[in-house]
Amino acid sequence: MLLKKEREENNMMEKIVSFCKRKGFVFPSSEIYGGFANSYSYGPYGTELKNNIKKLWWKKVVQEREDVVGIDGPILLNSKLWEASGHTSGFNDAMVDCKKCKKRFRADHVVEEATGKDLEGELEEMTKVLKEEKVKCPECGASDWTNVRNLNLMFKTEMNGYYGDVYLRPETAGAIFIEFKNIIDSMRVKVPFGIGQIGKAFRNEIVARNFIFRLREFEQMEIEYFIDPNQKWEEIFEGWLVFQEEFAMALGAKKEDLKRYEHAREKLSHYSRKTVDIEYKFPFGFSELFGLAHRGDFDLSQHAKFSGKKLEYFDVENNRRFIPHVIEPTFGLDRCILVTLLSAYNEEKVEEGTERVVMKFPKYLAPIKLAIFPLLKNKPELVKKAREIYDNLKGVHMCEFDDNGNIGKRYRRQDEIGTPYCVTVDFETLEDDTVTIRERDTMEQKRIKIEELKNFLEENLK
Ligand code: GAP
Repeated sequence: MLLKKEREENNMMEKIVSFCKRKGFVFPSSEIYGGFANSYSYGPYGTELKNNIKKLWWKKVVQEREDVVGIDGPILLNSKLWEASGHTSGFNDAMVDCKKCKKRFRADHVVEEATGKDLEGELEEMTKVLKEEKVKCPECGASDWTNVRNLNLMFKTEMNGYYGDVYLRPETAGAIFIEFKNIIDSMRVKVPFGIGQIGKAFRNEIVARNFIFRLREFEQMEIEYFIDPNQKWEEIFEGWLVFQEEFAMALGAKKEDLKRYEHAREKLSHYSRKTVDIEYKFPFGFSELFGLAHRGDFDLSQHAKFSGKKLEYFDVENNRRFIPHVIEPTFGLDRCILVTLLSAYNEEKVEEGTERVVMKFPKYLAPIKLAIFPLLKNKPELVKKAREIYDNLKGVHMCEFDDNGNIGKRYRRQDEIGTPYCVTVDFETLEDDTVTIRERDTMEQKRIKIEELKNFLEENLK
């Protein structure tokens, strides 16, 4: 739980938030109307970064694996699905209000922060602790609490021609389970196999906070990996954990900033054999980045029961029918973006008295891959040549053309948005068709033939 005072002291988060707004990565949404409930828009560079992370995940999960297929399901789904999955009755967080300042909090967070006790799910016990131990309100310091109550986190909406409540999906997983039958009927999949999906999810979080870490509208990248209940699951589980750690490192996270948190057996749902979170050392402390759960046959059995349809797999080789068990690796996309931004941010001394902010994104994630400059704006022959290079490469990579200010300033601008390479067209270019190419991290420059640029980028942007 981040207290107000800590928030103020939290220098790195503040830096990232203001940097993201200033440089077109992430903007507070609805700002001209005074903001709206901690929601954010991804700006032009943030959108490129987000798309590159999605592309990387899809490549590693769907494209490079023969055992995973991808789908794209709807946000609005038949409400029976959420009854079957237990979300309608059980997808709750505990809330409590401060009677003095009227602020609302996650009760388990306030209790844990003040007393170190993990009482998640124990409403009466939390009320007792808050009142008897006179826990202070993190906002105003009073100790005057309401009772702790449950709040269902699903967003309710209405739909023409449909009577009854409709929900915005609280996770993408549900949309995967209900396509299990269509996938085994239409694709040549064999257990073990997975279905992956990227998409929006909505949760009416009691408190949305920590920038894009906890949002009410966010994106998930999830896989349901179906296995034979008789097969050894431990190795498959470990394989996905390693995959998740490697994916975090591919975003730029350092190994020492990651840790595994295994949920205590007594806290697990009755159907789960094992649940592990991959936590990342955010500036506000180690917190969940990804999750991995063995969910047994709970989901398919529940959907079979509520839909009346058989959701079984037929193993032709052994002439055997069974309901597969599922291992669920889940990834929060917005949290991936936050990790990428935090890992890339660097302030460096470059020369005596000068500093640069440089986003050292892995090159394959950088929003802009190449910036092209004419040395001088008022020399049409330089501008024309630089434009030609830009026009030639813009269909292959995200490029920027910039003729504004001196070259040093242009380099700084590109360093700040993490552009791996800058190319400058100068008078020598007009004579021998070579340009200067400058690398972001080392700031080293060398000359290269224009005709070699395409290959150079292909080789060096991996
Ligand atoms: N289907 C399983 C599932 O949804 P979860 O732990 O509730 O599990 C999965 O969510 C991931 O989604 C989390 O590990 C986190 O990265 C991300 N996530 C969850 N709630 C979020 C929120 N309010 N804002 C941003 N990301 C969130």
